[in-house]
Amino acid sequence: MNPLFPKEVYQERRNRLKQSVGGGVAVFLTNEEAPMNYPSNTYRYRQDSNFLYFFGLSLPGMAAVIDFDEGRDIIFGDDFGIDDIIWMGPQPTIASLAEKVGVTDTRPMAKLADYLKGRKVLFTPPYRFDNQIKLSALTGIAIGNLKQSASAELIKGIVALRSAKDKYEIEQMENAGIIGAIMHTSVMKRCKPGVSERELAGLAEGVALSYGEGISFPVILSQHGETLHNHNHNGILTEGNFLLMDAGAENTMNYCSDHTRTYPVSGKFTQKQKEIYEIVLKANMEGIANVKPGVYYRDVHFIAAEIIAAGLKELGIMKGDVKEAARTGAYALFCPHGLGHQLGLDVHDMEDLGENYVGYDDTVSRSEIFGISALRMARELREGFIITVEPGIYFIPELIDIWKSEKKFAEFINYDKVEEYRHFGGIRIEDDVLVTADGHKVIGPHIPKSVEELENTVGKE
Ligand code: GLY
Ligand code: MN
Ligand code: MN
Repeated sequence: MNPLFPKEVYQERRNRLKQSVGGGVAVFLTNEEAPMNYPSNTYRYRQDSNFLYFFGLSLPGMAAVIDFDEGRDIIFGDDFGIDDIIWMGPQPTIASLAEKVGVTDTRPMAKLADYLKGRKVLFTPPYRFDNQIKLSALTGIAIGNLKQSASAELIKGIVALRSAKDKYEIEQMENAGIIGAIMHTSVMKRCKPGVSERELAGLAEGVALSYGEGISFPVILSQHGETLHNHNHNGILTEGNFLLMDAGAENTMNYCSDHTRTYPVSGKFTQKQKEIYEIVLKANMEGIANVKPGVYYRDVHFIAAEIIAAGLKELGIMKGDVKEAARTGAYALFCPHGLGHQLGLDVHDMEDLGENYVGYDDTVSRSEIFGISALRMARELREGFIITVEPGIYFIPELIDIWKSEKKFAEFINYDKVEEYRHFGGIRIEDDVLVTADGHKVIGPHIPKSVEELENTVGKE
């Protein structure tokens, strides 16, 4: 049985949701086991995060409802029989599991369809195919129409609750941050020319599995940091290259960390590497320094974009007005992604509910400008939010060639100078930050990130 918060925590969350949703009945399906190559050989089990948030139990084979009309919570599921117990050992009953999360009404799974018949059924967008099939059968909505039929009212209610982490969640996030820090420092120390990328990716994943449920997303570990999500680990570490690792842990209560560090394989920065690195570090640290309640994260993104543009201008790579370079998206040749996203039970927290519900609201809408449009989190920060701050500078040869041929933003970009960096690679620095009542707190222990700290850690087993 997975660890749980006190049952009152789940009751309180469900009651708060009841206050924000006007009527109908919300159905939450558990995630089922997912076969790798035959039905009983499965991937690591991962419960749906909304189910975890409201009902805590990390087990397949159940469905739960929050009935807003009747004010009831019910867990549907079937107790194990002797055939299961022979293979799996004694199993708790559904009623005893439900009791642990403050639910006293449990019913057999076969009763779920009847319960929902004729009711206004609310659901979140299903992202697993088996649950799409189930939900389609329960609601009569064609699979292709489920996503657009998801309840905006339910989604907004969930986002409002899950965005602000409570003290129990913050404690778990700190724990995930500790695991993440061990992952990163272990890899840094083992990093040397001649070591395989695979060994280091496996080391990071092994740490995540040793202390928690495993990784919070597939490890990104690459000497080609300019490829933003590079999961190819076939390379051998080579002197002169950077190594970028973007990796996080999921702790035993399924809370996630997400950190990125980039450093020279040799453990010693060249002058050219250092110059670009210091710009990204400044964007990361100023980004963090500007996190506080009441600030729009879009504006923190622009602060980081200006720092990138100003730093690159100083090196002769960019030119012109740095504020303009940020607002127009000229900087995005070098940083085509957003400054960060919310973090919690999901590494991109609540992304199943729709990015625009999570990162945008009535007061801020998504930009259509390349780069700025990739910002996942733009809205006003509130106490309890946890966000990543992850600026980067990348030299992506294919993107450079397209922009150069179009003379795109030629008033801001010195394309001749860019050529000197064509094979530079990419740097990203990412930390996880809690918005506190009067500012911010970086989650988890400090992971080496200054040039000096990295030079004192990389390769020093
Ligand atoms: N894990 C990918 C990211 O940092 O958003
Ligand atoms: Mn990351
Ligand atoms: Mn991230």
